[in-house]
Amino acid sequence: MKGLILSGGKGTRLYPLTFTSAKQLIPVANKPVLFRVIEAIKDAGITEIGIVVGDTAEEIKRAVRRGGRWDVDITFIPQDAPLGLAHAVKISEDFLGSDRFVMFLGDNVIQGGISPLIAQFAESHYNSQIVLTKVDQPEQYGVAELDQSGRIVRLIEKPKDPPSDLALVGIYMFDQHIFEAVKAITPSWRGELEITDAIQWLVNQGYNVHPYIHRGWWIDTGRPGDMLEANSLVLEELTPTIDGYVDRDSEVDSRVTIEQGAEVINSVIRGPAIIGRDTRLINAYVGPFTSIYHHCVIENAEISRSIVLENSQIRNINRRIEDSLIGRNVTLHRSPIRPRAYKFTLGDFSNVGLLGDSEH
Ligand code: TTP
Repeated sequence: MKGLILSGGKGTRLYPLTFTSAKQLIPVANKPVLFRVIEAIKDAGITEIGIVVGDTAEEIKRAVRRGGRWDVDITFIPQDAPLGLAHAVKISEDFLGSDRFVMFLGDNVIQGGISPLIAQFAESHYNSQIVLTKVDQPEQYGVAELDQSGRIVRLIEKPKDPPSDLALVGIYMFDQHIFEAVKAITPSWRGELEITDAIQWLVNQGYNVHPYIHRGWWIDTGRPGDMLEANSLVLEELTPTIDGYVDRDSEVDSRVTIEQGAEVINSVIRGPAIIGRDTRLINAYVGPFTSIYHHCVIENAEISRSIVLENSQIRNINRRIEDSLIGRNVTLHRSPIRPRAYKFTLGDFSNVGLLGDSEH
């Protein structure tokens, strides 16, 4: 089998964070989501992987080449414009040939990896296997309607009146019949070739599309809140290690990872949390479910349930920062400039000054 990762797209829902960079490279527990996807595919025993790339191709190639010690063969497949998930399959036909393959959205995180689903598909004669999971608000997802014997009848995008609470997870398995489907369908109202339409076409033609019900968590990291949720869930499962320096005045919980070269001075860290390579905490509090990436400084500040990307600095903030997603090279410090803010989704190179308590 081969793997196909979709890493093009625009990532508009994560603006401004993804204005200058690829959303698939945002780290969850200090590892880019795309790297987690590559590792999940590799762990399932697949070593030939195609990555569909768009506007952010160069950044993704650079990151994958630099990050990669995965021992897999990676082929980059350029997509001129984000014309839909089925379009991404269509342009990957040369790479995929007649092999069965798993397609994995490059911004999805799934508990427990994909080895069980790949094993089930590999042993089967299904033409396609789709992954479904129970969700609280099915009207926000692609939803599957199953018949009494558990076969797929219909797939509906964001239904007003959902026929079930089973949403399509961003992981799909296909054989070569999917190429007939993606050539037969036409663009939807939003101008995209929809993968749900292609799968529906397979069902209508009598091909065997099998549902796999996933019972763990799954997150599509499309919006800032999803990113924080995925971060919390992955942090919960991390095996903690302390490779950096912690001074005697600091207090560090048992569920905390401190990466190499990091320094923790007179600070408190409550896990689960991760402190990245060469990051410095000075007189800081880092609360649960927080990931601080590499080369950051947190000084005289408190932060919890947040993600801070590389090379950012947070200093002398006298309110706790919570539920925030802070981009790369951001400087956050106290200053007399209004307005005062409590929640942040800051793009790369943002520089925000906050009003100090004594000044209002
Ligand atoms: P989406 O989240 O559906 O689309 P998007 O990335 O454009 O995001 P937004 O809605 O915020 O603008 O895409 C899911 C994944 O598939 C994501 O990793 C991007 C990728 N993708 C492609 O590679 N090609 C495409 O044509 C599309 C639509 C998405």
